[in-house]
Amino acid sequence: MRLDRFLTNLPAYNRQQVRLLLVQRRVRVDGVVTADPLHEVREFSRVAVDEHVLQAGRAARYLMLHKPAGCVSATRDPAHPTVLDLLPAELRDELHIAGRLDYNTTGLMLLTNDGQWSRRLTQPRTKLAKIYRVHTEDEIGAHYVEKFLQGFYFAFEDLTTQPAQLDILGPHEARLAIVEGRYHQVKRMFGHFQNKVIALHRERMGPIELDAGLLPGQYRDLRPDEIAAI
Ligand code: URA
Repeated sequence: MRLDRFLTNLPAYNRQQVRLLLVQRRVRVDGVVTADPLHEVREFSRVAVDEHVLQAGRAARYLMLHKPAGCVSATRDPAHPTVLDLLPAELRDELHIAGRLDYNTTGLMLLTNDGQWSRRLTQPRTKLAKIYRVHTEDEIGAHYVEKFLQGFYFAFEDLTTQPAQLDILGPHEARLAIVEGRYHQVKRMFGHFQNKVIALHRERMGPIELDAGLLPGQYRDLRPDEIAAI
């Protein structure tokens, strides 16, 4: 919300008083004097007029988790353990998943309570590359590469997938970069060749790489540079 609207929404100030507070440089957002009426105020922002705190600001949380196989990327599931079960109870209620993975897919999963940040991460127009390591049942042919670049028609969504880069690492192993996150996307792409994906591991989402020090099921807070990179 704009700073001037945030202030006029409070019973204490009318529009004229808000304009005055701003030009008198009495308003601080996150400790910095702010005279711009359009400055963005979020639920995480601390807003003060002089020494009077109007909003303390909720703590923003950003975690990376090494998702193990055999758990669902959902906040609740009646039958299976969920990724949120791996976190302490006080975090479970406030975090959401930024980019789900299938039940048996492993690797990088990001969780946050910051909806703007997770939207930037997952919306297709941001075109952030998600990097997967793929193991398949049958051999991966050299001709796959061109098809991944051209795109696959997904009838259900009535769309053709964005160009994807496939690097063949071995007869049954490849690294794949995709910029979308369609339902079962990687499996459906390989399904085009009737080649079953037998293991799938997400190594990276854009600039954020799974920490090699995290064992499956472990998590850590993101560093400030990782948060700012999105
Ligand atoms: N594509 C899939 O098919 N599964 C995942 O978990 C992620 C991408």
